[in-house]
Amino acid sequence: MRKLTFTNGDQLAAIGLGTWKSAPGEVGRAIISALEAGYRHLDCAAIYGNEDEIGDALQEAFQKGIVKREELWVTSKLWNNSHARSEILPAIRKTLNDLKLDYIDLYLVHWPVALQPGVAFPKSKDDFRSLEQIPLLETWGGMEELHKKGLARHIGVSNFSIRKLNHLLERAEHAPEMNQVELHPYLQQKDLLQFAKNKGVFLTAYSPLGSRDRPERLKKEGDPDLLDVPVVVEIAEDMDCTPAQVLIAWAVQRGTAVIPKSTHPKRLRENLAAGEIELPSRHMDRLAGLDKHFRFIDGGTWAENNPYYTLANLWDE
Ligand code: A2P
Repeated sequence: MRKLTFTNGDQLAAIGLGTWKSAPGEVGRAIISALEAGYRHLDCAAIYGNEDEIGDALQEAFQKGIVKREELWVTSKLWNNSHARSEILPAIRKTLNDLKLDYIDLYLVHWPVALQPGVAFPKSKDDFRSLEQIPLLETWGGMEELHKKGLARHIGVSNFSIRKLNHLLERAEHAPEMNQVELHPYLQQKDLLQFAKNKGVFLTAYSPLGSRDRPERLKKEGDPDLLDVPVVVEIAEDMDCTPAQVLIAWAVQRGTAVIPKSTHPKRLRENLAAGEIELPSRHMDRLAGLDKHFRFIDGGTWAENNPYYTLANLWDE
């Protein structure tokens, strides 16, 4: 399994388990199965609404000796409704309390979008706060404080464009160490990947399998299904593996972390085993040719019903 090595020497297993959309009642069992299968990297977030159950599963895993805390990497994320300086510490405390942990390995600013306190998803313009009201640098200052306090061993961002990442990189005391973004052969973000590499920032690929279980509100007519893309299927046949494994191996070979989500033991094992697959350059080249700049998670949720955020200023495209 490839690992990403941070400047302080900490190592992150490239393949982690995604928990977005893992339903309460299901996610705890998935965590135990994943840890038993050998996963040591878990990707969580307060907004996924399942951290409490994940925390119970972690306690069970520690007690049964399946894994030790120090062998495990847990990522979580600050939700958009807690971007003000005074809201950040309480937010991580809630996550730590739910996950029943003393520290988070990596804590990320989930979106460069600010909502009013208590608002999970916006319904009207009053639910938003602008980035003039709460600059990203203010939020980042709060993240740095969490790092200083030892509550987050590493800090980073998610859904940040090159421009927004650079804005922080040029001004931050502690540079963001990770940007978690949507990445797959239909959204390769080669410029962002190159920029991040040059600056020593890692990327984590979310929705690497195309998130076919995403909520209906995030589906559009004619959306592709990555697992059915002919090139992906052909490569899987040639490599005697599955299309999901091709997508995961592709992400790992590009030097990113990747967090496929599953709640099924067989798929969990299959996805982790993709870390052992080496795609030859002829297959990497074919996959490189698939880029369409297509987002499954297009950020539309943040670009409606408010005067502050548009798709253009969200992605800086
Ligand atoms: P399930 O959780 O039922 O296994 P993403 O990681 O891009 O968000 O995609 C998650 C979706 O992909 C879920 O619907 C998940 O289903 C499915 N999935 C996960 N692993 C595999 C696999 N190896 N083969 C097919 N589908 C998979």
